[in-house]
Amino acid sequence: MARNLLVFLVALVLGLFCHVAVSDHMVQAPRYTVNLDISPEARWNDLLHHWNLTEYRARITKAIEQYVPAAAWDIIGDLVSTLDQYLPAPYAQEIQGIAKTVGLEVGQITALNILYDVSAFCTSIVAQDSNGTIWHARNLDYELGDILRNITVIVDFQVRGKTVYTTTSYAGHVGAFTGQKPHAFTVTINERDQGNIADNIMELLNALVLKKSAFVSFMLRDALSNDATYQEALNRLITKEEIAPVYYTIAGIRPDEGAVITRDHAKALDVWMLDEPNGRWYLLETNYDHWEPPPKDDDRRDPGNKAMLAVGQDDINDKTLMKVLSVKPVLNGHTTYTTIMSAAQPDVFNTHTRFIDSNE
Ligand SMILES: *[C@@H]1O[C@H](CO)[C@@H](O)[C@H](O)[C@H]1NC(C)=O
Ligand SMILES: *[C@@H]1O[C@H](CO)[C@@H](O)[C@H](O)[C@H]1NC(C)=O
Ligand SMILES: *[C@@H]1O[C@H](CO)[C@@H](O)[C@H](O)[C@H]1NC(C)=O
Repeated sequence: MARNLLVFLVALVLGLFCHVAVSDHMVQAPRYTVNLDISPEARWNDLLHHWNLTEYRARITKAIEQYVPAAAWDIIGDLVSTLDQYLPAPYAQEIQGIAKTVGLEVGQITALNILYDVSAFCTSIVAQDSNGTIWHARNLDYELGDILRNITVIVDFQVRGKTVYTTTSYAGHVGAFTGQKPHAFTVTINERDQGNIADNIMELLNALVLKKSAFVSFMLRDALSNDATYQEALNRLITKEEIAPVYYTIAGIRPDEGAVITRDHAKALDVWMLDEPNGRWYLLETNYDHWEPPPKDDDRRDPGNKAMLAVGQDDINDKTLMKVLSVKPVLNGHTTYTTIMSAAQPDVFNTHTRFIDSNE
């Protein structure tokens, strides 16, 4: 009895130390449901009410003031009065509903959604383990990380009580950069444009007004809502016109179902596929074309590759992928969250908010 107690206490103490060492910098993201059976205007209300809306407003206003240039406000002002013309359903209606619920202007929530589309840096990995299981993992890095960690959420979008797709998002963002259609595919977006945030916002607004192209984070949600298979989603992400140049990383449920799509506005420039029989058992994308060397001042690719090879194909799973995404500078001061997914095993989907001392 006493011995068991001792073992228990030792385990507890060790457990506590491990806990501190690891989760010091990691917090489980909250998980909420968005019911697609209710109107777009009302479906985000329950989720939003988990925040103190006074604090939420202060946080969001600060982000917008910091990053959205004054020149953008005239265009946003014009857009907002006819938002439905520029943003497809249900996104315009959802944005209008969110603005009303949190007590901000429709223009502010629109600006927030635009801001998300232009300022993300990140690492995405798709890998096939030795058993042919496909895994997909990502870090999402943002300059405005401090504001976003507190509003990072896992969202289960449900129809008649059943989850039809899951995303990691920020409360108030109607699109997403990370998503899973259970038993079909997983998809992530990494930014490709490398200009400054203000220029990117103006470019995106002009494209929106002129061409009515889609936000990339809406494109991802469109794929999750409409596409039944990996192949359908792959085709959409390769061919549909969109606003910002990005990288899509998509993973399926069968061996060799994994690709990184390098996009410009009009089309795919390159589709880089898993090819396990020839040794390409994983793909790792940061924010640079994979056929060019990464810039010296932002090389997360080489450390990421080194970590993947150190784990090896036999040992790829949710825990080892978490380790890879915790190697610095793959994990860095801007990292807001890490998500691990495997569409064939939808219960694997999980997101942790990441904290790291920014002076590290
Ligand atoms: C919300 O936050 C504000 C500002 O910090 C605080 O004054 C207020 O009491 C909070 N409201 C609730 C319901 O906790
Ligand atoms: C592969 O399958 C074997 C047998 O089911 C299992 O023991 C092993 O953990 C699996 N490996 C991976 C990487 O999933
Ligand atoms: C935001 O995150 C910080 C850091 O973990 C925490 O101390 C604080 O309570 C959070 N605030 C809210 C409103 O969740």
